[in-house]
Amino acid sequence: MAPNQEKTENPERRKVIALLEPMSSAAESYRNIRSSIFYTAPEGDMKVLTVTSSLPREGKTTTVVNLAVVIAQCGKKTLLIDGDFHRPKIHRLLG
Ligand SMILES: Nc1ncnc2c1ncn2[C@@H]1O[C@H](COP(=O)(O)OP(=O)(O)O)[C@@H](O)[C@H]1O
Ligand SMILES: [Mg+2]
Repeated sequence: MAPNQEKTENPERRKVIALLEPMSSAAESYRNIRSSIFYTAPEGDMKVLTVTSSLPREGKTTTVVNLAVVIAQCGKKTLLIDGDFHRPKIHRLLG
């Protein structure tokens, strides 16, 4: 399937911009977040990263999905677990 066709068929997938548009400034911003996180812990020390916030729709799902993509892109084994038992959505962005 052509990448553009894939983008239009599932609107949720458009949010995975780090995968669909790796040269975009948004994708670059997620790579900057990745660098900042890696900078805070020595290589190999950080095994688990939790992202949360106090209110819905603050950007958690979008952030973690794109962050997982850019972390995987730099060769690290990456497991993304959706801990939102009320409104799980990660499967819709990546499924
Ligand atoms: N960095 C961002 N800039 C603009 N809109 C964003 C950003 N991150 C997320 N959004 C939008 O905000 C809304 C809520 O995002 P979502 O990731 O589902 O939040 P949460 O998981 O915290 O409920 C979505 O419509 C999403 O597209
Ligand atoms: Mg969410």
